[in-house]
Amino acid sequence: MNLAVLLAAAAAAAVPAHRAQPYLTAQTSAFGALIEGAGVDSLGRLYAVHYNASTAAVGRVFPAQELFYADRARPAAWFNGVRFGGGAALLADVRGHRVARVRDMGAFSHAETRCHDAAMLQPNDLALAHSTGRLFLSGMNYTRDSAVGSGDLWTCDARGVATRLGLFHRTNGIELSPDERTLYLSEAENKGGAVVANRILAFDVDAATGAVSNRRTFADFGALDGSAASDVDGMRADERGFLYVARWGRGRVAVLTPAGALHAYILLSTISEVTSVELAGPAGRDLFAVGACSADPARGCVERWPAPARGRAFARLQGQ
Ligand SMILES: *[C@@H]1O[C@H](CO)[C@@H](O)[C@H](O)[C@H]1NC(C)=O
Ligand SMILES: *[C@@H]1O[C@H](CO)[C@@H](O)[C@H](O)[C@H]1NC(C)=O
Repeated sequence: MNLAVLLAAAAAAAVPAHRAQPYLTAQTSAFGALIEGAGVDSLGRLYAVHYNASTAAVGRVFPAQELFYADRARPAAWFNGVRFGGGAALLADVRGHRVARVRDMGAFSHAETRCHDAAMLQPNDLALAHSTGRLFLSGMNYTRDSAVGSGDLWTCDARGVATRLGLFHRTNGIELSPDERTLYLSEAENKGGAVVANRILAFDVDAATGAVSNRRTFADFGALDGSAASDVDGMRADERGFLYVARWGRGRVAVLTPAGALHAYILLSTISEVTSVELAGPAGRDLFAVGACSADPARGCVERWPAPARGRAFARLQGQ
């Protein structure tokens, strides 16, 4: 360890840590190991992918586990991200290089392609600008040595036109600020098979065109707490602009202030490889974290922690 890493680790030891409680366990979960893409609807219900261990199925996590949507027309679909808006569910389909929209939310039966481009690397996850109906998509191609082009950023406008906004090292977590003027995008670098950098980039967003500019580093986990080797996975903002960041392999969620400072950790006891987080629940302020169960890697576990503020998505969905 070099001095910078030691100093960062010492600083991390002073960060307040809270402990989440198991919500779905290896014994009770109906989700498979690839549970990810946590999303909330206007009622505070929580959804995630890999229901019944099917990549083509999305299930409800809270308040009760049940199938929400299974793509029977395209059983090869691989859903990895879920967002709600405009009375529909928007699903990132990795294998289809598209976003699917499920409109009839009562019947779980009908999906259409919202946007598609064969040149999309995945998409891995998505963020929705509620004011414009515009989506932002991340994606990656995991290789031993990453390069610019191992990750990409796309936008889909309200008409469903997909446009590539940029190429990066591996991109994964994606979120907007509460005023939808700032886009956050994670970027990870691989060298010789090892993960060597994990940061969150921030951009200014042009609401009309979706174009991003003024790229800057919002948070660099190597400098923040010496965790450059641990991937940033899903991330979600609360209505104050604090960012909850899944730290895959570290069994924790990092909470960042709107200025990008490390504010707290939420420690998980049953999940090491945490893939996604979302604020849901009756008041939209319970943080849920999802990932494969440490006790049974074939199942998806969920933990819950009472957060101090409502989620950005839940808050935006009220009164729509
Ligand atoms: C779960 O998956 C199994 C195996 O693919 C299938 O036989 C079963 O019908 C599914 N159950 C539900 C509730 O979808
Ligand atoms: C992913 O990376 C591999 C190795 O560099 C390359 O051969 C492949 O074409 C890439 N796939 C895409 C979709 O870019």
